[in-house]
Amino acid sequence: MEAINIGILGLGTVGSGVVRMLTNHAEKISSITGRRLVVKTIVVHDLSKKRSVDMTGIKVTDDVDAVLSDPSIQLVVEVMGTVETAKKYIEQALKAGKHVVTANKDLIATYGPELTSLALQQKCDLYYEASVAGGIPILRTIVNSFAADRIVEVKGIVNGTTNYIMTQMNQKGVSYAAALQQAQELGFAEADPTNDVEGIDAAYKMIILTQFAFGKDITLSNVKLEGISGVKLEDIEEAKRLGYKIKLLGISKLINEHLDVSVGPVLVPRSQPLATVQNENNAVFVTGAAVGETMFYGPGAGELPTANSVLSDIITVTKNIAMGTTGVRFNDYSAQIKLAESSE
Ligand code: HSE
Repeated sequence: MEAINIGILGLGTVGSGVVRMLTNHAEKISSITGRRLVVKTIVVHDLSKKRSVDMTGIKVTDDVDAVLSDPSIQLVVEVMGTVETAKKYIEQALKAGKHVVTANKDLIATYGPELTSLALQQKCDLYYEASVAGGIPILRTIVNSFAADRIVEVKGIVNGTTNYIMTQMNQKGVSYAAALQQAQELGFAEADPTNDVEGIDAAYKMIILTQFAFGKDITLSNVKLEGISGVKLEDIEEAKRLGYKIKLLGISKLINEHLDVSVGPVLVPRSQPLATVQNENNAVFVTGAAVGETMFYGPGAGELPTANSVLSDIITVTKNIAMGTTGVRFNDYSAQIKLAESSE
């Protein structure tokens, strides 16, 4: 069976999950794709760090050129994080004719259109399912299953850290600071949790969701943004008394045919399904003119859920390589749509 050689940039939580799943499900993946997926090289920052995954037969190096300049590597998986450095490596990979899968929402929210153009120009694939809502396959669902519908609203809980904090404050009366520390210890907060608690991480995900749902490229400046750092236990208690929960929601919706995008704390009635989403879980409501309201729920972070989304992209790219259909945009929908005045 023909092999597809893979280079992985980064071996943190998600990278380890990708290696683990590729190894454990190798046979199933081969039977689905008709190709043997081989992790040839992994680039790490710290060679001395102990790793929890079996890396027999894999070259581990701190030299990124071992991946980017290796002509036998067809697919690069970027799970190292950061924006500018990751962008540079992805550009180099695409220019070398390599396909790319990334989980990097900061990068895609900032440079998605630019990198997509480069990928198309190079006839390469660029996929990033894991960048939004971790383990929930929401991007391919919007592309595939809402293709014939007209989406009017996408809203949801797309940041696990803030949902965890709100859950702990609401149910256990834990203070904001203590709940944030727990989220950091559990490993789903960003390296700089400001991005989580100030709503920036959720805004990045809403930028990507907005592109998929409405065919419109927006930037952070188009998102009305408010975090949860100002939410107090008393606010949560008061909301509870009135029959609500406070949740950090991302909302992208059409108002009089103009797109309005926001991230902020919202009073959600306790009977609304979003109010029942606990801890680091995510949930996305997609409302289509034809289908009505749909809800997608699942883990928004974590090693194996996020790795599963990365793997779904790896498998798609592998099938595209096998069928000679690479270089087609993951989401080729773009629309002339105006932003609501408040989002401009
Ligand atoms: N910090 C992010 C979150 C990780 O809490 O949702 C997953 O994107």
